[in-house]
Amino acid sequence: MNPQAPLSLDRYAVIGNPIAHSKSPFIHARFAAQTGEPIEYGHLLAPVDAFVPHVRAFIEAGGRGMNVTVPFKLDAHAFTTRLSPRAAAAGAVNTLRFDADGVFGDNTDGFGLVRDIEVNLGVPLKGARILLLGAGGAARGVVLPMLDRAPHALTIVNRTAEKAGQLVEQFAHAARDAGCRLNGGSARAIEAGAYDVIVNATAGSLDASLPDCDDRAFGGGTLAYDMMYGAQPTVFMDHAQKLGARSADGLGMLVEQAAESFYVWRGIRPDGAPVLAELRKLLKTPSPV
Ligand code: ATR
Repeated sequence: MNPQAPLSLDRYAVIGNPIAHSKSPFIHARFAAQTGEPIEYGHLLAPVDAFVPHVRAFIEAGGRGMNVTVPFKLDAHAFTTRLSPRAAAAGAVNTLRFDADGVFGDNTDGFGLVRDIEVNLGVPLKGARILLLGAGGAARGVVLPMLDRAPHALTIVNRTAEKAGQLVEQFAHAARDAGCRLNGGSARAIEAGAYDVIVNATAGSLDASLPDCDDRAFGGGTLAYDMMYGAQPTVFMDHAQKLGARSADGLGMLVEQAAESFYVWRGIRPDGAPVLAELRKLLKTPSPV
């Protein structure tokens, strides 16, 4: 037995359905080793209609915080007693912290995206022209963190144009405060000239379909970012590369949202880059059959 080992570890977990393949336990174990924080982090499968009792049982057993994934991000939002501004804007919660004040809900997904783009990929968003494809939960969650970086312009387009219009309306104030020109609707709202950053926040990559987007939006200086990830590039990434753009998948966003959750819980920000490199290697290694 290691005499230096702490007597008890603070408990955290990711809750979702399905959950067995979540990479969060791996990521947080690496973060704990890196920072020396005394935590343990597991995964919790809850039936789709039983989020609340599972969370309550976890709290009663001494749990300090949770990550929340599909399909529970709205349930988690409803369960909180306090919300961060970014979680309120997202309308969804991916991070819960349980403390004496109650249940604090945050959303670190958008921050994770921004940090991956700016720090890991080295593309500044300040002054950038950004095109956001999609207007579902994933898209909504990243708008405020992107506006916080003061881009020059943000265009939001979606297959169902009205939903993009609703996001434009919701974030009009924040865009004005950030000095950012915000527009959106159908793919016709895409403006002339290649964008600096194009983010695919649609669920299209799940069934290998490409969201409607003018090819002229992609250029040699464009970063085309797909929030999805896998062992192979997505169809969106392939398409962007054929048009001369640089492309990236969402694995870095996954790691960076986890790092920000860790910060929300522990007040210490782990370094995402080495964990991302390790995960990338694992993803490329074929699993044994
Ligand atoms: P999520 O939480 O992942 O954003 P969602 O709220 O169901 O999930 O939103 C899915 C998004 O992907 C929506 O913007 C959806 O477009 P619609 O609002 O028109 O449904 C978009 N989407 C899904 N499949 C798509 C496809 N094949 N082509 C283009 N957009 C697609």
